Amino acid sequence: MRVAVLGTSGQLASELRRSARSAALELVAPQKVDISVDSQVNALLDRERPALVLNAAAYTAVDRAEVEREQAFAVNEIGPSLIARWCTANRAALIHVSTDYVFDGAKAAGYVEEDATAPLGVYGESKLAGEVAVRGALERHLILRTSWVFSAHSQNFVKTMLRLARERDELRVVADQVGRPTAAADLASAMLTLAERLAKGAELDWGTYHFAGAGSTSWHGFAEAIVEEQAPLTGKKPRVTPITTADYPTPARRPQSSVLDTSRFERTFGITPAPWRDGLRTVVRELVSAT
Ligand SMILES: NC(=O)c1ccc[n+]([C@@H]2O[C@H](COP(=O)([O-])OP(=O)(O)OC[C@H]3O[C@@H](n4cnc5c(N)ncnc54)[C@H](OP(=O)(O)O)[C@@H]3O)[C@@H](O)[C@H]2O)c1
Repeated sequence: MRVAVLGTSGQLASELRRSARSAALELVAPQKVDISVDSQVNALLDRERPALVLNAAAYTAVDRAEVEREQAFAVNEIGPSLIARWCTANRAALIHVSTDYVFDGAKAAGYVEEDATAPLGVYGESKLAGEVAVRGALERHLILRTSWVFSAHSQNFVKTMLRLARERDELRVVADQVGRPTAAADLASAMLTLAERLAKGAELDWGTYHFAGAGSTSWHGFAEAIVEEQAPLTGKKPRVTPITTADYPTPARRPQSSVLDTSRFERTFGITPAPWRDGLRTVVRELVSAT
């Protein structure tokens, strides 16, 4: 089955390409096209003729989105809408990725798929608009909401903390926002498992699901784990000091608790997300050995 991966050099797209291993899947990862441009999306998909599209392309600059509203919506709403429409016209399926930032973070317990969405910033609004567009245009879709994605590629929190751990004796990190870090490799593996099932003729239970690494923590807890993982490899062990959101103002507001409840995904597909800490160990080793 031909599968097109969109989002060439991003965290998730890189892992999708790297972990593509099944003989049942013929993965095509085309050169980057702008997914917000109708003619580019159609030309690419007409040429590749995938039976399934994995959309890992997105505008992910959460703070910059506050001043680049139009660009964020172009990539995160118009892009998925164009892809979904091509899929409908060509009887293809789509696995699209969304975010915990569609929620406002006021719920103490984990968010389930039916919980009311209320994004706090432009990025979350644009991703929510993308979800609505996909649902409206295509029946055979999965929307996987994920959170706090990290990998050895692209820009992310792990890379930033590793750099700061090299440069400083103290890291000051927000301790009053909690979520579930997710290794891009783990999400990629789950997406490819679903793709393989489709390739073998199974139909999937289409709809919206949450997928995130097992276990929750704060950004501070995440930073402490990163420092612990790199210390034996680098000999550096800076202090990690908890601060509050108020101590670290950012252009975009972020949800306080964006823990995603993944039980629906686990129940439906029989796939359990791996502990985020396991994925972290692998990524830290890869990044440290590359420096
Ligand atoms: N990162 C997180 O913490 C996080 C959390 C929750 C959900 N998610 C979601 O998870 C998915 C994967 O995110 P990620 O972490 O892999 O993001 P990423 O590393 O920022 O990668 C996004 C990719 O999309 C590409 N892209 C941007 N604009 C494009 C356009 N107009 N046309 C085609 N490609 C475009 C980027 O290319 P350039 O680099 O060349 O611009 C980049 O390769 C996204 O849907 C994201 O919203 C991410």
